[in-house]
Amino acid sequence: MIKRTLAACVAAATLSTAAQAADVEVLHYWTSGGEAKSVAYLKEKLTEAGVGWKDFAVAGGGGENAMTVLKSRAVSGNPPTAAQIKGPSIQEWGELGFLSDIDSVAKANNWDALLPGVVSDVMKHDGKYVAAPVNVHRVNWLWANPEIFQKAGATIPTTWDDFLVQAKKIQDAGYIALAHGGQAWQDATVFEAVVLGVGGPEYYQKAFVELDADALNSATTEEVFRVFGEIRGLIDENSPGRDWNVATSMVINGEAAMQIMGDWAKGEFTVAGKTPGVDYACVAAPGTSGSFTFNVDSFAFFAQSDADAQKAQQEMAKQILGQDFQKVFNLNKGSIPARLGMARDEFDSCAHASMDAFVSSAQTGGLVPSFAHGMAVPEAVSGAIYDTATNFFNSDQSAAEGKAQLIASIQAAM
Ligand code: BGC
Repeated sequence: MIKRTLAACVAAATLSTAAQAADVEVLHYWTSGGEAKSVAYLKEKLTEAGVGWKDFAVAGGGGENAMTVLKSRAVSGNPPTAAQIKGPSIQEWGELGFLSDIDSVAKANNWDALLPGVVSDVMKHDGKYVAAPVNVHRVNWLWANPEIFQKAGATIPTTWDDFLVQAKKIQDAGYIALAHGGQAWQDATVFEAVVLGVGGPEYYQKAFVELDADALNSATTEEVFRVFGEIRGLIDENSPGRDWNVATSMVINGEAAMQIMGDWAKGEFTVAGKTPGVDYACVAAPGTSGSFTFNVDSFAFFAQSDADAQKAQQEMAKQILGQDFQKVFNLNKGSIPARLGMARDEFDSCAHASMDAFVSSAQTGGLVPSFAHGMAVPEAVSGAIYDTATNFFNSDQSAAEGKAQLIASIQAAM
């Protein structure tokens, strides 16, 4: 009896060591309804592949909180196995020597051929893949509740001037025009849409990606702040601090007519059982129909000394680029697959619009990286833009003051 119990204990211990060796601890900030459903599928795929999942979720839209926690874990010599890091930050972590490469998986599975150049470039450090992309989000979207528009006698706006006119009609009919969460990254998301819609992609690229002094110090920048300032009057008084998904639910529930947000918002409509073109509309943010601000989510892999942990990382990287994962994850997340050549039929009309715009904007120069979502400039600069946008939006600064503040804070961060 004792022998049998001991044998069972040993077997259990062996099993748990094996399971532990193959665990991945994954830092992410996907905690809303649509996001949680998406990340649950990654866990499911890994479990199927024999890799254990240790969830390290840090709530907070846009990931600022998660990045703070990641830094403290990394500095104390205890980074997670993989973390949701994207854009130029991948390079910053790579330069600091924290990342391990997954190039053997990328080569064996031909990632260079499976990914658009604009995506694969960002995933590499020193020419080797150190991160795996899960999706492509389009940020410049306007989400609308058609019933409210109809009741207010308003039409869905295609320019920012028209947006201001239609929003007024909606307010006059007793609805909140724009569902907004007063958090710096959400202010910056709306600001980015105004930059692109008012200035166009060429101005966007020069001023907010290349940080060209003349483009920043132009009349266009002042016009951007003028329009952005008008939006202050279109949100409700309870917006400070509100999470983005709560703002989305206001559009879903018929409290507010519109939200300017990336297509992770679509994940919330999907989870609520809503159909695009029927229950809600997804259109390009005003003035941006030919453009696409891209935001690619990815997992970067932190250097591990343990061989089993390295194997688990490689399995995770392999699963992420798999067709199953790229399909199901993105159906839930609201984004489109990062992997090229995927079947489109199960995706909805918003995803089709995004897929088409991704291809066409790349040909016309309208494909630009999102500065509000960490794709365009180093963290210090995007922080300076966040601060300026949020200070302006929450004050009565004039457009000229906004512009001066923007130039000064970018300069200080460079
Ligand atoms: C991320 C999305 C996420 C959103 C809200 C964005 O920066 O790329 O994956 O859903 O923030 O947290």
